[in-house]
Amino acid sequence: MTAAGLPKKTAQDLRSARWYATDTRMGHTHRQRTSQAGYSRDDYLGKPVIGIFSTWSDLNPCHMHFRDRVADIKRGVWQAGGFPVEVPVTSLGEPFMKPTTGLYRNFLAMEVEEMLRCHPIDGVVLMGGCDKTTPAMIMGATTVNLPAIFVPAGPMLTGRWRGETLGSGTDTSKWFAELKAGTISRSEFDDMEQAGARSAGHCMTMGTASTMTALADVLGLSLPGVSSIPAPDSRHAHMCSHSGRRIVEMVWSDVRPRQVLTRAAFGNALVTLMALGGSTNAVIHLLAMAGRAGVPLNLADFDFQQRPIPVLADIRPSGKYLMEDFFHAGGLLALLSELREDLDLTALAVNGQTLGENLAGALRVGDEVIRPRSQPVYPSAGLAVLRGTLAPDGAVIKRSAATASLLRHTGRAVVFEGLEDLTNRIDDPTLDVDESSVLVLRNAGPIGGPGMPEWGMLPLPRKLLEKGVRDMVRISDARMSGTHYGTVVLHVAPEAAVGGPLSLVRDGDLIELDVAAGKLDLLVDEAILAERRQANPLPNPGANRGWRRIFSDHVLQADQGCDLDLLLGNEGSIEPEIN
Ligand code: FES
Repeated sequence: MTAAGLPKKTAQDLRSARWYATDTRMGHTHRQRTSQAGYSRDDYLGKPVIGIFSTWSDLNPCHMHFRDRVADIKRGVWQAGGFPVEVPVTSLGEPFMKPTTGLYRNFLAMEVEEMLRCHPIDGVVLMGGCDKTTPAMIMGATTVNLPAIFVPAGPMLTGRWRGETLGSGTDTSKWFAELKAGTISRSEFDDMEQAGARSAGHCMTMGTASTMTALADVLGLSLPGVSSIPAPDSRHAHMCSHSGRRIVEMVWSDVRPRQVLTRAAFGNALVTLMALGGSTNAVIHLLAMAGRAGVPLNLADFDFQQRPIPVLADIRPSGKYLMEDFFHAGGLLALLSELREDLDLTALAVNGQTLGENLAGALRVGDEVIRPRSQPVYPSAGLAVLRGTLAPDGAVIKRSAATASLLRHTGRAVVFEGLEDLTNRIDDPTLDVDESSVLVLRNAGPIGGPGMPEWGMLPLPRKLLEKGVRDMVRISDARMSGTHYGTVVLHVAPEAAVGGPLSLVRDGDLIELDVAAGKLDLLVDEAILAERRQANPLPNPGANRGWRRIFSDHVLQADQGCDLDLLLGNEGSIEPEIN
């Protein structure tokens, strides 16, 4: 990689010169239409054209500050001698999209790829944060492999209510369970509802958004250590203008995503995921991102049983604090400085420096939020990979957010055929269930969901909540919000909708979970399972039209990252065919 700021390309080498610097009829049209937008030739000719890919939307409150931040990025691009162009792309607002944003991650990835391919863009600023937006934009940009820098949305401010701090998702689930159990009133719950999301920014727990922006950071795709700057903080605006300046330098120096996204970088991301107690969704996204970068990565790489990495971030749902606290404790670089011996410090970042160089000024403030290695929140990795007769191709559990006594458990299955069945029956007083039962949800995987919705933290039956039960073993082919918690086994592969063993479970079957041994078994004779297999309905054919049809025809299973088979890899020209 060329050292920061050292020009390597000339103006004639710019990709955008193919549009702007030609003496053809189309060259004339490109210049005329840029003039129509109010720009003179001095504004853009011979300058890197920087696409600012913004996932702003009124239906994505996590990104409601992006219009202001686009202006900050543009300021930086102009300062560095570039020409900024804002390109709105699909926003995946986690709270509102149904059945799930998981159905649209690959849609946004494909859009980013195509918008980069077809436009006169030399480098791109990727603005993401709300869960799927981060991996989606990185997947698309990695495929195209033009210079790219990631600008994280930043977490929202800490929620506060009656002297308590409130974390997105985590505390909603907690207080909703208390409402169901009758320990708080409806009006108290409504009051809590208003206090939980006080500013722009993504969820401020260590959910999928905080996890994925931290991973983009350690992968080297954003300016180092910026992922935890709170969205409303003035330093977030500074970071945006700095990123705008840097992407112009990156175009001249020809710094591209695949120079950064190496096996070493992904190895660092895995270690960081474990130390953060990060979201289980990151497993799927890292597999998909590595697939686009051409880096071999598989589910077994997430198994840290033999190489314990402690959870050091004391952040909900695995811990106590929230992202604002993490930022003030030193943020990601402070955490990484505790993990030096487990990281490849030679990995490069988009600022042109190695991870080791970027850690030089890291400062951990206090021992509470980012723990020293000698006082971990959890002694070994927060995630565990499971396999067995119920999950031949694997499953995952976030053991740092589970109940320790349930990590080895055998219980009778109580099976739900889908979300509707679950909703209709979970609170039925006649449901044959007790606290030792194992709740099973199927038909919630990549095809069955579709899109693998975050239904994995199944609600507990009201009659058990009223008895004081607050956790049970739950198993599904769904995902789970990174803000959720409990003894929840996820991503069972293959999913029920394609005939995986999850489709063969019946009420009363014994299921054995042994997290330390990495096992998840259905304790039913193979002869009986063979009979059930014969009687099973044909696999789910998926949707019949449009994007959903493309998705169900081509989506890969969870252990392969749920990318579309036709988007895997990074082969092919990035250039449009016609001048
Ligand atoms: Fe946007 Fe959680 S809802 S990050």
